Amino acid sequence: MQVKLKIFRYNPEQDKKPHYERYQVEAEPTDRVLDLLEYVKGNVDGTLSFRRSCAHGICGSDAMRINGVNYLACKVLVKDIGSSNITIQPLLGLRVIKDLIVDMEPFFEHYRSVMPYLVNDQTPPSTERLQSPEERERFDDTTKCILCAACTTSCPSFWGNEKYVGPAAIVTAHRFIFDSRDRAASERLKILNDQFGVYRCHTIFNCTLACPREIQITTAIGEVKKAIATGSVD
Ligand code: SF4
Ligand code: F3S
Ligand code: FES
Repeated sequence: MQVKLKIFRYNPEQDKKPHYERYQVEAEPTDRVLDLLEYVKGNVDGTLSFRRSCAHGICGSDAMRINGVNYLACKVLVKDIGSSNITIQPLLGLRVIKDLIVDMEPFFEHYRSVMPYLVNDQTPPSTERLQSPEERERFDDTTKCILCAACTTSCPSFWGNEKYVGPAAIVTAHRFIFDSRDRAASERLKILNDQFGVYRCHTIFNCTLACPREIQITTAIGEVKKAIATGSVD
């Protein structure tokens, strides 16, 4: 099949403003959108810039806006787009460095703000810190995050105010807040009780729909809100 690609292009070092370039490529319905980008870069226009690393939905580096929806380009197939006209844009709400590459630093700043590491200053046991299957299950879903930013950059609250910590950072906080081995839940809940914390979430659900790992993000945010309100992580 023939696919018509319309790709956002912007090189701030040369261009006064962004524009779109159109490319027509031959594709199989089972090709990934990443395959089409690779084709254009390798055969048509080597200046096209985008991030990718693993190409298998693991590294989280190729999240982008495809026909208005955030996807990992390496996970979405041409047949899943539902049209042979495919518009590809960079993630919204983050500064464009070049073409489809955005500045992820503000995103990672929010991530770092929630203390994304296990805190436990008790004397370590001689073997590992044990945890029951039920205790592990409590935060299993939020361990799946690959930090692709598809959620935060599809959130209208984040578009409205980039200081909002965003769903990805809350997912990471949730992963530690509900980990029975961690001892810093109250510190994280205090951080998220800030004016730019969890209460900026108005349960819009775009984040959950965008997550390539199918993490129940809105549910996780609700659990963090409840922990703040009740002062308990039980
Ligand atoms: Fe990506 Fe999902 Fe993690 Fe958000 S929660 S950064 S969408 S993997
Ligand atoms: Fe935004 Fe998701 Fe909340 S889209 S408003 S973080 S439910
Ligand atoms: Fe790694 Fe797509 S390239 S997730």
